[in-house]
Amino acid sequence: NYLQEDELPQECSDVVSSLPRETGWVAKYLHQYQGCWITTRYMKGVLAFQKHFQAHHTDILLVTTPKAGTTWLKAILFALVNRVRYRPDPLQHPLLTNNPHVLVPFLDINLYTQSQVPDLSSFAFPRLFSTHLPFALLPTSVKDSACKIVYLCRNPKDTFVSLWHFTNKLRPTAWGTNSLEEAFDKFCRGVSLYGPYWDNVLGYWKKSLEMPQKVLFLKFEEIKEHPAANLRRLAEFLECPFSLEEKAQGVEDNILRLCSFDNLSNLEVNKSGKLPAGEENNAYFRHGEVGDWMNHLTVEMIEKLDRITEEKFHGTGLRV
Ligand code: A3P
Repeated sequence: NYLQEDELPQECSDVVSSLPRETGWVAKYLHQYQGCWITTRYMKGVLAFQKHFQAHHTDILLVTTPKAGTTWLKAILFALVNRVRYRPDPLQHPLLTNNPHVLVPFLDINLYTQSQVPDLSSFAFPRLFSTHLPFALLPTSVKDSACKIVYLCRNPKDTFVSLWHFTNKLRPTAWGTNSLEEAFDKFCRGVSLYGPYWDNVLGYWKKSLEMPQKVLFLKFEEIKEHPAANLRRLAEFLECPFSLEEKAQGVEDNILRLCSFDNLSNLEVNKSGKLPAGEENNAYFRHGEVGDWMNHLTVEMIEKLDRITEEKFHGTGLRV
């Protein structure tokens, strides 16, 4: 299902057919739309999301570069924001029986791909949604409303390695695997899902400096190193800080334990379940560590990625 190129609505196919395209990592094509590389199928959702989505001032939008740890932060956000309704309990919680992508869906990839005008009335406020779109491509109502954006990035070397593994897992066996070299060349040229990686990250980095009340910029590596401090930062940014009583009750630790790699990846739903679009939930859990790039990239690849990152982020104050 993930791989099928839907019959696009006429309006959408007119746009898509005029765009530059390259072969994709999993899907047949990636199209360059407003500077961003998007699959044919997701183009339908992106256009409908841009056209129809009306942000509510209490909405929370999680934006990430693919493979930055989206699944993890979706779980953390869901547990944090709903901690009164659902106590972060190790025996009973929606996260124990639902993959985080089901609880916090992608607007473009899921909701607006399934329907051009999806019914969002079943979402409790504050609504939690997600996307990988660059800031410039977000619908005007997201930019204009008081809704909050949480952005997550990850160092480009681990992001690339994680993406390479993930996309090879999703490719039909008959297609064979994408070689590391071929994928690396595409990633460096910016031709990766919702890439160029550097443009996506930099767009949100700049907005987080300009509008710190609106955009919170988080890094996978920092959350791994200081999970409790980052959870508190997130709670304060979302204006739902932990009370002294909650701290004394260990609510922070319970959320982090519930959302930990070990806990989530060992749940039956994430070991054997599938997402509505067909991907196996276990594809979203591999190692969840920092630095796996050392086991995959050659010295030349490391130098090249470091050089590109240095050039792109030079003078921005951003270090990844
Ligand atoms: P690796 O492939 O390096 O293991 P995304 O959710 O954006 O698709 O990113 C997937 C990456 O996040 C994978 O990285 C995956 O293992 C890791 N991940 C998933 N759940 C995690 C968790 N609870 N804690 C830490 N990392 C997690």
